[in-house]
Amino acid sequence: MRNGRASEHGPLIVFGATGDVGSATALEASKRGAKVWLAMRNPDKAIDGITKEQEQQGDFERIQADLTDPESIKKAVRQSGANAAFIYHAFGMNGAVQALKEAGIEYVVFLSSFSIGPGQDLRQIPPSELIPYVHAQVEIALEDTEMAHTALRPAYFATNGIRMNLDKSVKPYKARNVAPDLRADCITPNDIGRVGGAVLVKRPSSASKEFIYLCGPQLLTSDEQWDILNKVLGQNVEVVHEGPEDHRGFLIRKGLPPPLADYLISSTTDVTVGSWYPDNLLGEWVANIKKYSGYEPTTFEEFAKTQDLA
Ligand SMILES: NC(=O)c1ccc[n+]([C@@H]2O[C@H](COP(=O)([O-])OP(=O)(O)OC[C@H]3O[C@@H](n4cnc5c(N)ncnc54)[C@H](OP(=O)(O)O)[C@@H]3O)[C@@H](O)[C@H]2O)c1
Repeated sequence: MRNGRASEHGPLIVFGATGDVGSATALEASKRGAKVWLAMRNPDKAIDGITKEQEQQGDFERIQADLTDPESIKKAVRQSGANAAFIYHAFGMNGAVQALKEAGIEYVVFLSSFSIGPGQDLRQIPPSELIPYVHAQVEIALEDTEMAHTALRPAYFATNGIRMNLDKSVKPYKARNVAPDLRADCITPNDIGRVGGAVLVKRPSSASKEFIYLCGPQLLTSDEQWDILNKVLGQNVEVVHEGPEDHRGFLIRKGLPPPLADYLISSTTDVTVGSWYPDNLLGEWVANIKKYSGYEPTTFEEFAKTQDLA
C-alpha cells in the first residue's frame, strides 16, 4: 500500500518502463488499480510517458533490472513480490524467461511482433527472418517453461516515420523512405500499452497461451503520414524515396545493426509480401484495441498532435 491506496490486485512488474509501450502499459495497469513496479536499467532515468505527478499519484515504485541480466531480474521480482510481468524483446535476454519463472512470476505479457503470422509454427521461423525469429524465441521460451502468457503482436508503429525515417542531418529535415507503396497501419505505442496494461491486470482468458494481433485504424503510405505530420506540426518535411542501398546506409548511420537494417528493408519492400494485412483479419485486429483496452484506436491525426520533431 502506498499513498493510502490499497490495491485490488497483486503487484505487477513492468520491464522497460521507460519505453513508449512499457510506460503506457504501466500507466494503464496503475489506472486499473494495480501497484506497479517500474523495472528499469537505470532507475534514475526520466520516463517520458509518465509525468512526475502521475508517478507520485499512482502506486508506482522504481526498481533496477536489466533483461539481459537474469540475477537482476530475479532480485527485482523477488523484491517486488509481483507474480505478473510485462516484458519486451531485448537482444541477449536468453535467460530472462527462466529467471522470471524462478523468481515467482506466473503470468507474462510479452510485446511480440505481428511479423509472426497467425498459425505460423514458431519453431520453423529461420534466424534469417530476424524480427519474427527473435520474438518467436521468447514465445518458445515461455511455452517451454510452461508460463501462462499473452503475446501482443502489434503491426507497424506510428512512431516509425519520425524515429526511423527522419533525417535530421540535413536542414530542412527530410524523411527518407524505401517503401513508397507500403500502406502501414500506424498503431500507436500508447494504444499497444493500454492493451498491455489491461491484460496484465486481468488475463483475457485462462488459456496458458494467448496471442493478440493489434493494428492501427488507418492504412497510410509514408507520404500520407508525412502530409498529416507536416500539417499538424506546421512543418515542411520533404519525403525522399531512395533505393535499398542508400536506405541501408542511412539506417546503419542511425545506429541500427546491419542485420536489422537488412530485415527492415526486405520486409517493407519485398514485392511478394504484397499487403501485410489479410483482408479478412484486419478489421478484427483493429477492433482488438477496443476489445481489450476499452479505448477507441487512436487516429494518425491524434497521434501527430502528441509529437514534435525536436
Ligand atoms: N513493429 C514496429 O513497427 C516497431 C517499431 C518500433 C519498435 N518496435 C518494437 O517494440 C519495442 C518497444 O517499442 P517502444 O517504441 O516502446 O520502444 P522504446 O520507446 O525505444 O523503448 C524500449 C525500451 O526497452 C528498454 N530496454 C532495452 N534494452 C533493455 C534491457 N536489456 N533490459 C531492460 N529494458 C531494456 C529500454 O530501456 P532504456 O530506457 O534503459 O533504454 C526502453 O524502456 C521495441 O523494442 C521493438 O522491439 C516495433
